[in-house]
Amino acid sequence: ATDGGETVAHGESAGDIGYGKIILLGEHSVVYGRHAIAAPIPLDIRAEVKPQRDHIDLMIPRWGVEMRLSEPEPAISSLHASISLIAERLGVADRAMRIEVFPRVPRANGLGASAALAVAVIRAMARCFAVEISEREISNLAFDCEKIAHGTPSGIDNTLATFGRPILFRKDSARARPDIRDLATPRPVPIVIGLSGVATLTMQTVGHVRTAWQNNPQRYESIFSQIDELALAGVEALRKGDLAELGELMNIDQGLLNALQVSSREIEDLVQIARRNGALGAKLTGGGGGGAMIAVAEADRTESIASAMRAAGYNTFITEIR
Ligand code: MEV
Repeated sequence: ATDGGETVAHGESAGDIGYGKIILLGEHSVVYGRHAIAAPIPLDIRAEVKPQRDHIDLMIPRWGVEMRLSEPEPAISSLHASISLIAERLGVADRAMRIEVFPRVPRANGLGASAALAVAVIRAMARCFAVEISEREISNLAFDCEKIAHGTPSGIDNTLATFGRPILFRKDSARARPDIRDLATPRPVPIVIGLSGVATLTMQTVGHVRTAWQNNPQRYESIFSQIDELALAGVEALRKGDLAELGELMNIDQGLLNALQVSSREIEDLVQIARRNGALGAKLTGGGGGGAMIAVAEADRTESIASAMRAAGYNTFITEIR
């Protein structure tokens, strides 16, 4: 189950999976070539693909999705478009198949569900039809799917969904490949995830930030650069296992994300609840405008933070970065 305040362990899923993610520092500015830190969460998406006699069918029971991809839809959804793109790129668009998807990442919460779904389906489809594909190619194809869902993604979500380990990420438009550095921490970093209960479309918040940046590039570039400094300082805090410093960086990042106007009333409520209950730092994660937030805390505080959030009516997860 993905509801309620449970603690979920890493490595529970078998089969073809894509990882959900949190961004610790650097969302939005990462779209403009700055650094961001992201880590996988043990909520993932698993997919199975089986050959069948006719048609391409997509089933996501948990999300109430049943789609016949081999027939044109009145209004093509981004889901329809990205799964069709995967079949085409893998060279199996003319094969009949049943695609079943089992998400544990809540949808439209900025936790990377769309990228995780693309990665899981790519893996499962490639396995079903014995198509050879490298990890890098999986990430690249998921990136093309993300462009359908998000417009101008940085590439951080598909990278995390594929590789599933903590990274420092920077998009490099000059070389088509992003800079990706693995991050290590001497001790697990306890994280409480709070869900605002308000669905969010990353495409929209990314679009709002783009409009504001176009209207006043200098002003916004300077905010992006300040966030960049926080992300780089975050690498150091993680390396030392300094939770207090990491929390401080997250708090300041939340202030700057607020300046970008991508927070929301519910996110602010959750951030305040987390801080009042002993979190060392709290901020939104992902696209914002609703969706999810994260709080960092000493391990003995996570349960009381999560239960205060639940008492206020929000769903929570407790996890850790390691
Ligand atoms: C979404 O998880 C993170 C954003 O920075 C968008 C992106 O990097 O593609 C908001």
